Amino acid sequence: MLNVEHTTDTNAAIWKSDQIVKTWAAEAAQRERTHGAQWQLMARLLPFGEQEAFTFLDLGAGTGAASRAILERHSSSTGILADFSAEMMGAGEQELRPFAGRYRYVEFDMVAGGWPTAIPAAVDAVVTSLCVHHLPDERKQRLFAEILDRLVPGGWYLNYDPVRTEDPVVTAAWERVTDQEKPELAHKRHHRTPEEQARYENHVRYISLLRPQLGYLQAVGFHGVEVHWKRLDWAIFGGYRPQE
Ligand SMILES: C[S@@+](CC[C@H](N)C(=O)[O-])C[C@H]1O[C@@H](n2cnc3c(N)ncnc32)[C@H](O)[C@@H]1O
Repeated sequence: MLNVEHTTDTNAAIWKSDQIVKTWAAEAAQRERTHGAQWQLMARLLPFGEQEAFTFLDLGAGTGAASRAILERHSSSTGILADFSAEMMGAGEQELRPFAGRYRYVEFDMVAGGWPTAIPAAVDAVVTSLCVHHLPDERKQRLFAEILDRLVPGGWYLNYDPVRTEDPVVTAAWERVTDQEKPELAHKRHHRTPEEQARYENHVRYISLLRPQLGYLQAVGFHGVEVHWKRLDWAIFGGYRPQE
């Protein structure tokens, strides 16, 4: 049972609960319909031939959705999947079975920092999907710097995440379109269970504007900082480490 009431770290309480794994699994098909094309686009954006061998790091990997798209498209790639939730990683082991031998999970808390030695000092690419928005802005910026530091020269970083707008008129327009496309979510917004409310509040807590995040990437030294895809409150953006 999910109990986040008396916990200061709601993010950890949510993602490390057994309940989340059950709910996450139940939502898998819906998630694939909503995000599958974007995960495939990330895999295609990575600058490697389909047979080329390379190592990528997936931070906040969860059950490995982004990693699976990359492992599938790039048959000689190897994935390091990092997460702080043993529960999510356990569920991911099931889903990643077809890729046994080509990936490994590493425990890593992105808030605590201090990268474990199990994460290689240099990787060819880093991806994050639906997880950076769980970090406060100052941690996002430092994480981007740490990611740059881990990349080989020329290595790419791609982040797929929700973003917000400052303008309430734009927020209302995005919500209206989403409600039209997914009426079940419109109903859900007004009828959340306590668990769904806790998850929602944890989800929106640190969602940031897109432009400052592009600024963070540039400020820490990424080149080619671009928004590769954007629709309503979702974006894929990133950059690459310059050649030295
Ligand atoms: C919404 S899920 C996304 C999972 C996966 N990347 C995907 O796209 O399906 C968020 C993931 O981020 C992980 N996460 C949240 N906060 C984290 C932290 N501080 N350190 C490491 N992982 C974290 C959660 O455990 C969870 O697996």
